[in-house]
Amino acid sequence: MQDNKITKTLVSEEEIRATVQRLGAEVTAHYQRLEKELMVIGLLRGSFIFMADLVRQIKVPLVVDFMTLSSYGDGTVSSGDIKVVMDLDSSIEDRDVLLVEDIVDTGRTFSKVIRMLQNRNPRSLSTCTFLNKPLARQVDIRIDFCGVNIPNEFAVGYGLDYAQGYRNLPYVGVLQPD
Ligand code: PRP
Repeated sequence: MQDNKITKTLVSEEEIRATVQRLGAEVTAHYQRLEKELMVIGLLRGSFIFMADLVRQIKVPLVVDFMTLSSYGDGTVSSGDIKVVMDLDSSIEDRDVLLVEDIVDTGRTFSKVIRMLQNRNPRSLSTCTFLNKPLARQVDIRIDFCGVNIPNEFAVGYGLDYAQGYRNLPYVGVLQPD
């Protein structure tokens, strides 16, 4: 049973709901003067659940697109080796873009994607993460909309995986690896 390895709850379902609601309100307030729809870009696979919840709390016109990246392989330690597995479908040139992550850990993934997207000349680019691990940070990045700061422990659930498992946990828990 995969739940046997969860040692504690980091973010409960109730806290998830409140956090997503707050972030949705912050994003909505920030994007009151859009020229075209907001482009919300999710980094797969981890962000898929947060993204689905977040966009329903954003009350401005928007479109969604996704990029698939991979940085961890199947381990619990960030390898720093980040691959673009699937690129965006649409151009972001001259668009207001909100980049959405499930977690910023070392910051390497976000930093690389931010650089990549800036080179495509968006009108603006903001960053949003559900979880933030400040103590694990190795690359300095700006987070415009930040959900919950968590300690430097291995978090799973609400989209976050270990060896592709645990993404369907409805809360965020700490995993004790074997
Ligand atoms: C995880 C997570 C972030 C990244 C954060 O992705 O979704 O994208 O690691 O780590 P960093 O700040 O140290 O770069 P992962 O590669 O595990 O893929 P996933 O999105 O499919 O879970």
